[in-house]
Parts: sequence; C-alpha cells; structure tokens
Amino acid sequence: MSSEVLVEKKKLAKPPLNVHFLGDRILRQPAKRVVHVDAELRQLIREMLQTMYSSEGIGLAAPQVGVHKQLLVIDYEIDNPARPPLILINPTIKQVSRDTCVIQEGCLSVPNVFLDVKRPSAIEVQYKDEYGRPQKLSADDILARVIQHEMDHLNGILFVDRVENSLMLKQELAKQGFSTQAVKTIV
Ligand code: NI
Repeated sequence: MSSEVLVEKKKLAKPPLNVHFLGDRILRQPAKRVVHVDAELRQLIREMLQTMYSSEGIGLAAPQVGVHKQLLVIDYEIDNPARPPLILINPTIKQVSRDTCVIQEGCLSVPNVFLDVKRPSAIEVQYKDEYGRPQKLSADDILARVIQHEMDHLNGILFVDRVENSLMLKQELAKQGFSTQAVKTIV
C-alpha cells in the first residue's frame, strides 16, 4: 500500500461522494471492468475511502456512489490507524468453500438494517491493486464476508436480496422506511 491512496480514518462534515440507497435503480446496474488504473482512479479511491470512513462503513463498492466500475474499498479495522485499507479492482472469486456460515450484515445503502445472511465461509479472490498489479488473497471470517457482500454490489445485488427470513426483512425495512418492493429476492 502506497501513501497515494491513504486518507485519514475520520468522519468528514461533508464527505466527497453521495451514497445511493435501496430503491435507487443506480444500485441495480452492473459495474464494468476497470481498464485504466491511473491517478484519476486513485483519486476516486481516496474519495470512496473518505466517504466510507465518514459513514463508519467497513466496505464500499463504486456502484454505491453511482460509479459503475468494478472497484471496492474495504477496511474492517477503522479504529486502527496503522492498518491500511484493502483496495480491490476487477475482483474475481477463484474458489469458494463448501461450508457456509450465517453472519449479520449491514450496508451503507440500507442504513440501520442488520440481518442474517448465509454465504460461503471462505473464498479465494484475484484482483488488481491500486497500481494495477495482480494480487491474490485467501480470506475467511469477516473479510471473506465483506468481500462477498461488496462484490455483490458489482452485479447489482444487495444483501437484502439474500435474506432468508422474509418476515424479519419486511419488519426491519419498514422500520427504516424502505419498501420491500425494492428487494429482488434471490434465495
Ligand atoms: Ni453494501
């Protein structure tokens, strides 16, 4: 990780980018592969990180800020200033574990809604870093979960689409003023 994309992990009064919410069709559009990993993209990465830290999120996908590029920023240790964030460009999952686990997920595009989702426990992912260098990563636990959640965004899928408990889903969405019609159930 070079300092070029590093930003301070703090809340900004006015984050540089706007996050789109469930119900906004922009979230349902699939993202395109990034062709040029350049200074312009790294500026977008910085702004995505600042926006993510401002909302205390642990991951943000470019489509959530209306940019249809295959780009994710992840940092599940936002309280640890020494830990650099993870930047994934054009990620592809090379392997998934057969065993699954249930973890409660949330999403900056569905604020204040937290629900159980079942996904594979471990994955192997290939991607490019912020300098276009090919990278490979084996992840389990929370990191595997965040990567899978964020990669769904690149295909226009939101975690609420994967919630199996439809009653809880309805209740929690209603509490936050979201319409269940915005959900595209795939389980
Ligand atoms: Ni999300």
